[in-house]
Amino acid sequence: MSDSAAGNPRLPVERRCPFDPAEGYAALTKAGPIAKIAMPVSVDGRDGWVATGLDEVRRILADDRFSHRKDLISLSIPSPIPTGDDSKQVVYRAPAPEPGAFISMDPPEHLRYRRLLAGYFTVRRVRELTPMVEQVAQECLDALADAGPGADLVASFAEPFPIRVMCELMGIPPRHRAPLAEHLAVVSRMSYTIEELTEAVVELGRLLTEIVQEKREKATPDLLGELAAAGELTDGELINIAWALLGGGFDTSGNMLALGVFALLEHPDQLARLRAEPELLDNAVEELLRYLTVSHLGASRAALSDVTIGGETIEQGQTVVVALPVANRDPARFPDPDVLDLGRNTQGHVAFGHGVHQCLGQHLARLTLRVGYRALFERFGSLRLAVPADEVPTKEDMLHYGVHRLPVTWDETPG
Ligand code: HEM
Repeated sequence: MSDSAAGNPRLPVERRCPFDPAEGYAALTKAGPIAKIAMPVSVDGRDGWVATGLDEVRRILADDRFSHRKDLISLSIPSPIPTGDDSKQVVYRAPAPEPGAFISMDPPEHLRYRRLLAGYFTVRRVRELTPMVEQVAQECLDALADAGPGADLVASFAEPFPIRVMCELMGIPPRHRAPLAEHLAVVSRMSYTIEELTEAVVELGRLLTEIVQEKREKATPDLLGELAAAGELTDGELINIAWALLGGGFDTSGNMLALGVFALLEHPDQLARLRAEPELLDNAVEELLRYLTVSHLGASRAALSDVTIGGETIEQGQTVVVALPVANRDPARFPDPDVLDLGRNTQGHVAFGHGVHQCLGQHLARLTLRVGYRALFERFGSLRLAVPADEVPTKEDMLHYGVHRLPVTWDETPG
């Protein structure tokens, strides 16, 4: 599919196999580790680039000549936001990041916020959350058991479990959780009407303002409560930090959980191996992260100067998309990359990105996934799909890949 004046293709999203990267990448990788693509929503009308080689992806993400500022980056996917007269090559300029919106900041501003938050997400701090995470997992599995064979694993378990964990860590009171999740679900889509988007953004802003005000009035021993009590951040910064954390953690772990279960059920040899060798769990989680890479649109950066990489020159101002799912299948690093092998060496995978913006919540995600897979497969020993695999609806239409529903069944023990 050519979509630019120069005939360059768009970023592919359509898949043939639910676990493999979008089909269109095959042609792009043939062109080399970096190829030109059309940017449907471009800051200056120019085409961009996509990097698919693992080495090139890691180099770009670690290079401070590339910016993560959203006001400099062209969008690689069509946006429903009306931004100009011409629906194809529109002039689109997002506002510069607001205070606290650290995800789209560059160093040194970015570092200030990362430092304030890092302590909440270290391996040690996250490990201390294990009892809470295990309890929440069991409570969500109770809901799955209550729903009975044929239940949707996404609705009962994979979606609510990580959201509850995130909310416990951040100190978001239970009454705010369902409305937050409802509005976050809208902004996690790849298409929405302007009315839907406006309502979700306004409501998210209103809810987060209310939560921050509550934290200011009454100190609580949680991430938002402690940041509010420390008095270093304005209300606006706290709201944007909460938004960034919820946006980063809202559906990523949940999609990995459900898609990981789907992949294991479709690879019974690997599931049997995991059951026989429970000590494989940590590595199994890394391999599932590599193999499934739910950040299917990759990450985007804008070049701050001309940069030559992989034999191509990315010009100042051009956007480069790093195709994380494809880089994680780079045969130069991962032999037989399309094979799910829970015992393989997964070192160097980029499912959590790389460089200064590498996922802040990665240890929390790992804990959630380990606890989630273990608890599920221990409690539901005969778990299997309740529908043919090709009837499981996949999420090509969302910012993060996964499955919309995963109907599962199991043998209920009598009495
Ligand atoms: C399996 C689950 C997860 C995956 C696959 C994932 C993936 C990623 C990736 C690829 C990035 C880098 C984006 C870029 O460089 O442009 C990232 C950044 C980020 N993630 Fe995650 N993530 C997961 C879970 C979480 C959780 C649970 C949180 C909760 C705090 C979180 C919060 C963030 C934040 C705040 C950033 C931005 C960091 C920064 O810009 O400094 N993520 N994540």
